[in-house]
Amino acid sequence: MSKLTLKVNGKISTVDVDPGTPLLYILRNELGLQGPRFGCGLGQCGACKVLINGAAVASCITPVSTVTSEVTTLEGLASNGKLHPLQQAWIDEQVPQCGYCQNGQIITAKAMLDKNPQPTDAQIREAMNGTLCRCMSYYRIHMAIKRAVRQVPA
Ligand code: FES
Ligand code: FES
Repeated sequence: MSKLTLKVNGKISTVDVDPGTPLLYILRNELGLQGPRFGCGLGQCGACKVLINGAAVASCITPVSTVTSEVTTLEGLASNGKLHPLQQAWIDEQVPQCGYCQNGQIITAKAMLDKNPQPTDAQIREAMNGTLCRCMSYYRIHMAIKRAVRQVPA
């Protein structure tokens, strides 16, 4: 076991864990952040994604000891009690069905829009490719991203 310090959503925490523990387990079980979900555990589905250095990262295959930058989870996207435009767009477009994948969808979309605030349809499809939804909510995900884009001036 090792004492590790993590900054997550602006808050610093120290955890005493096996350094090889996946970041996902620390977020959910030690820090109580249940936005990121366990889907495949293999880095294949995207349900567990979090933001690290602007990238959407699969936290299920990221050993906690390798995390040296701030982590932002779904819970960290809202600010001052106001939902992030993507979160609001997800509600407005009624995107989720079972909801299980939606953490990964929003985190992936956030990483994309931070790099490219005005993506084309093709760029949205390319960026979101590989973040899986077994309920096939892809069309509404796409529409929600376009709605969020419209809220942000070019
Ligand atoms: S649970 Fe991490 S990618 Fe599937
Ligand atoms: S909404 Fe069910 S897996 Fe995507």
